[in-house]
Amino acid sequence: MGMGRRRGGLCVLLPVCVSLFCLQVPVLLSQEGEGSCDPADLRALRGFLRGLESGAIGGWRFNGSPPSSSVPISCCGWTGITCDNSSSSSPSQSGRRVVGLDLSNRRITGKLSASMGGLDHLRSLNLSNNSFGGVLPRELFRLPQLEVLDLSYNEFSGTIPADTDLPSIRVFNVSFNNFNGSHPVLAGSPKLAQFDVGFNKFSGSINTSICLASAGIQTVRFSYNLLSGVLPAGFSNCSSLTELYLDSNNFTGALPDDLFLVSSLKRLYLQENRLSGELSARIRNLSNLEKLDVSLNGFSGRIPDMFRPLQKLQYFAAASNRFADSLPPSLSTLSTIQVLNLRNNSLKGEIDLQFENMRRLSFLDLASNRFSGGIPQNIAACKELKTLNLARNKLTGEVPESFKNLSSLSFLSLSNNSLINIASALSIVQQCPNLTNLALTMNFHGERMPSDGIQGFQSLQLLVIPNSGLWGSIPPWLQQCTKLHLLDLSWNKLEGTIPLWFGNLDSVFYLDLSNNSLSGEIPVSLTKMKRLISGNSLQPRSSSVYFPFFSMTSQSGTRLQYNQVHSFKPSLLLNTNKLVGSIYPQFGNLKKLHVLDLSQNMLSGSIPDELSAMKDLETMDLSHNNLVGIIPPPLARLSFLSRFSVAFNDLVGEIPVGGQFSTFPNSSFEGNSGLCGIYFSPCASDTPHQKTNRQRRDNSFFEGMATGIGLGTFVGILLARDPCRFWTYYP
Ligand SMILES: *[C@@H]1O[C@H](CO)[C@@H](O)[C@H](O)[C@H]1NC(C)=O
Ligand SMILES: *[C@@H]1O[C@H](CO)[C@@H](O)[C@H](O)[C@H]1NC(C)=O
Ligand SMILES: *[C@@H]1O[C@H](CO)[C@@H](O)[C@H](O)[C@H]1NC(C)=O
Ligand SMILES: *[C@@H]1O[C@H](CO)[C@@H](O)[C@H](O)[C@H]1NC(C)=O
Ligand SMILES: *[C@@H]1O[C@H](CO)[C@@H](O)[C@H](O)[C@H]1NC(C)=O
Ligand SMILES: *[C@@H]1O[C@H](CO)[C@@H](O)[C@H](O)[C@H]1NC(C)=O
Ligand SMILES: *[C@@H]1O[C@H](CO)[C@@H](O)[C@H](O)[C@H]1NC(C)=O
Ligand SMILES: *[C@@H]1O[C@H](CO)[C@@H](O)[C@H](O)[C@H]1NC(C)=O
Ligand SMILES: *[C@@H]1O[C@H](CO)[C@@H](O)[C@H](O)[C@H]1NC(C)=O
Ligand SMILES: *[C@@H]1O[C@H](CO)[C@@H](O)[C@H](O)[C@H]1NC(C)=O
Ligand SMILES: *[C@@H]1O[C@H](CO)[C@@H](O)[C@H](O)[C@H]1NC(C)=O
Ligand SMILES: *[C@@H]1O[C@H](CO)[C@@H](O)[C@H](O)[C@H]1NC(C)=O
Repeated sequence: MGMGRRRGGLCVLLPVCVSLFCLQVPVLLSQEGEGSCDPADLRALRGFLRGLESGAIGGWRFNGSPPSSSVPISCCGWTGITCDNSSSSSPSQSGRRVVGLDLSNRRITGKLSASMGGLDHLRSLNLSNNSFGGVLPRELFRLPQLEVLDLSYNEFSGTIPADTDLPSIRVFNVSFNNFNGSHPVLAGSPKLAQFDVGFNKFSGSINTSICLASAGIQTVRFSYNLLSGVLPAGFSNCSSLTELYLDSNNFTGALPDDLFLVSSLKRLYLQENRLSGELSARIRNLSNLEKLDVSLNGFSGRIPDMFRPLQKLQYFAAASNRFADSLPPSLSTLSTIQVLNLRNNSLKGEIDLQFENMRRLSFLDLASNRFSGGIPQNIAACKELKTLNLARNKLTGEVPESFKNLSSLSFLSLSNNSLINIASALSIVQQCPNLTNLALTMNFHGERMPSDGIQGFQSLQLLVIPNSGLWGSIPPWLQQCTKLHLLDLSWNKLEGTIPLWFGNLDSVFYLDLSNNSLSGEIPVSLTKMKRLISGNSLQPRSSSVYFPFFSMTSQSGTRLQYNQVHSFKPSLLLNTNKLVGSIYPQFGNLKKLHVLDLSQNMLSGSIPDELSAMKDLETMDLSHNNLVGIIPPPLARLSFLSRFSVAFNDLVGEIPVGGQFSTFPNSSFEGNSGLCGIYFSPCASDTPHQKTNRQRRDNSFFEGMATGIGLGTFVGILLARDPCRFWTYYP
């Protein structure tokens, strides 16, 4: 087909001419070139061009002939145009008719002209993925032979007329536009098979008359609109329906009873609405279901014990509802299930599924419920399990020995439970060869951080075990985690020094050891961390259902979500320890660092000028130390610096002026004996400022942050100080 649309002349222009292509040209020419186009079609195409901003399509040539001219023009070889074959077999005086127009993916801007109505033999119109805008001409909805209409990914607006008359339409796709008003119904379109009005601004209620005219309809997509009201009856007349997408609207109430008669359904998406009440157990009637998503609604009561007949179900998500009580036992019969997401409900009892029967399971998220009892050892029967999130439950006991058999496991979060025996937990999960992300926040309370018995974790990229009251020292086995990107051991009770070998962890770009009792000097090797010197050499991975979001959440409810580890800002957080010594000038090498927090230690000496070389720095907090000397004026060159504090040190001299320094509040500088300038007495006067109470931490620095900073980063910093933040996965 693609070749058939080319004209003979093109071949000559091509620098490399494939012989096969050239040989075919004469044949194609006789097919395409013979017979001129029907004048009505030519008029319509001229009108179409007039609607475009550029007024032209490459390859369309009217040869300067006026619209009324009777000079024959063959449009059949033009870009995107397909003609019928009628005139090649029996040339008629009117010429060949345009039956297809495919101008998809061409960055065309403009409006669709009413002259389109003249293309009355058109069978297929594909304008997908352009920048057409404005309101559609009514004439478009009167094309008697139109079978395929794809206007997806444009900027069309306005309403689609209620009296559409497209008797031949099979595929109707107007998704990803700005249409509003009532959704089209396409009464009188008995051949309709694919109907997609998703990602628009259609409002009002659903009209299931769409099923009346088109009993053979297979796909109906209403996703991402502003549709509301109770879902009406009538879907049962769509007796061939395989995919029904009602997600991300504003539907309320219960599911209509006759929906459960559509036994052909394979995909039913109901997520992100305001549906409520109990989920009807009659869903069990939909025995062909492969994907069912009821997440983000207000369903309550039990999850019905309905799964036994659903033997094709691969994907079941019911996250973020108000489901209560225990897991329905029939879940265990789902031998085909791959994704099971029941996160953020009020489910309780033990996690007592027969995982032996669910061997295809690759994603299991039961986080943020009230499950109790132990972690079931039979989860390890799911050899394909990649993601396991059991965070924020009330699970007790130890990580089962069987977990070492989870050879596909990549993401594991057990955060916020009441697990014990971290030494055993680590020595078991280190045997999962593909484990990349491990979050164990808020467990093992008051245990000792195991210093030996761990050799593994060759694949580990993220390790977070903060807020656990762990004591002991920073474990030497971390040296072997050479793939580590992100390490968070904050808010524990770790003692001793920060080992030298940290500087050898070449991939680490986010290190949080804050809020421990670490002492000694900062090892100078930390100024040699490769990722912080020369940046991000790792390609970010795309997110998918298998790649959960991370979220950091503070008790105050602020949350920060990232869909990949790489979204975190390069950070070095050593604050609130007992570190001594000076701040090395070599910190200036860390040109890729965004956040440096050394506050609340006992660091002494002066602030090196060289810190002004950290050109990406957004946050520098050196407050609450024993630093002396002046604030180096070159720091004013740090153009991204939006948060800065040297409060409560022994600094003297003039506060630098210019650059970002004009945006920092008073609290960035308070509590120093000899600073003068902006907020303080003019530098000519040498009245010493009293140092205020060092015990009390002043938070106004963080609350009074200057405007114009991305909310995300701001929240990030608040969280970095929040004693109650925790890590979980958020798929
Ligand atoms: C025209 O005829 C050719 C060759 O028989 C065929 O491949 C093509 O699909 C036909 N085009 C249309 C639009 O019917
Ligand atoms: C849309 O068209 C543009 C350019 O014409 C192309 O780069 C892009 O990949 C297309 N998008 C899709 C989803 O096909
Ligand atoms: C329209 O064109 C796009 C891009 O070429 C293609 O992906 C899509 O399947 C076409 N639409 C229909 C309904 O064939
Ligand atoms: C409609 O078009 C969009 C964008 O091209 C595509 O993603 C979607 O699958 C199409 N809908 C149907 C039902 O084919
Ligand atoms: C549809 O949007 C247009 C603006 O694009 C607005 O003027 C019109 O009132 C809207 N109609 C409905 C029914 O919302
Ligand atoms: C549904 O659409 C049909 C056909 O357009 C129309 O006759 C009927 O009044 C509509 N029903 C509602 C409730 O809007
Ligand atoms: C299904 O279609 C029949 C007519 O074919 C109609 O009488 C009936 O009311 C429709 N069912 C629903 C629930 O709309
Ligand atoms: C959903 O409906 C409620 C009230 O019925 C309304 O307050 C809310 O704005 C609606 N949401 C959207 C996105 O239309
Ligand atoms: C579906 O439900 C209806 C009514 O509840 C029942 O009569 C019918 O037998 C069920 N069909 C299947 C396949 O279970
Ligand atoms: C949890 O679910 C509730 C609805 O039950 C929802 O309002 C809330 O936003 C969800 N929380 C998260 C973190 O998804
Ligand atoms: C791990 O798997 C092997 C082989 O399937 C099995 O023999 C062994 O009992 C399992 N280990 C545990 C602790 O479940
Ligand atoms: C482990 O990860 C590698 C690389 O991503 C992959 O090729 C391999 O199949 C995975 N192994 C298992 C058992 O999933």
